[in-house]
Amino acid sequence: MVHLVAPSILSADFANLGRDIEMVNKSKADWLHIDVMDGVFVPNISFGFPVLSAVKKIAKKPLDVHLMIIQPDKYLSRFRDCGADSITIHYEADIHLHRTLEAIKEMGMKAAVALNPHTSVQVLSEVISDIDMVCLMSVNPGFGGQQFIENTFQKITSLKTLMMEKASRALIEIDGGVGMANAQSLVKAGASVLVAGNAVFSSADPAKTIHDLKYF
Ligand code: DX5
Ligand code: ZN
Repeated sequence: MVHLVAPSILSADFANLGRDIEMVNKSKADWLHIDVMDGVFVPNISFGFPVLSAVKKIAKKPLDVHLMIIQPDKYLSRFRDCGADSITIHYEADIHLHRTLEAIKEMGMKAAVALNPHTSVQVLSEVISDIDMVCLMSVNPGFGGQQFIENTFQKITSLKTLMMEKASRALIEIDGGVGMANAQSLVKAGASVLVAGNAVFSSADPAKTIHDLKYF
């Protein structure tokens, strides 16, 4: 399967956000990854609805919205109205995960679940057949530019086994510390979506880095 590349605007230059999104528009990126943080679920606050709406006005790629917030069910329709194409909620942040996932799908968006590095893929056993994507966090969520956690490779293998057992066709997204050093191994291991913030926006030629993450 051809993998997808989703640059994360968390590492973009917010004073030149329009310029950075135009770069992504013209690049080989498949999606735009949007990290929403509430300062409660994670020890950082990023941005919210007004920024998302502004991004949607100019973005030509689907918005892959990653909610690092507690009680995500409260805000689903707001995120839909701001232009989210897919919503990723954290297993650790939602008591009624199944209900929230169904609500996301009923609103016409793709539904995904993210797992923190310490969370076993087995917790998804009862919902894996009904979701569009699993996001394996390969850093502890909250910040860009962190070091990739190598155990993610084992989690990909376990996730693939679980998906086989449950006849799931979910995409496997890897988020955190992804760059040229590990992209190819991740895709070989089974990753279908690579999120990259720092690796893209801190590089000398971000559009070329996106291209290189897509074609190797
Ligand atoms: C981390 C975010 C990531 C982040 C990845 O909490 O979910 O999407 O932007 O950034 P890099 O690629 O810099 O690790
Ligand atoms: Zn993310």
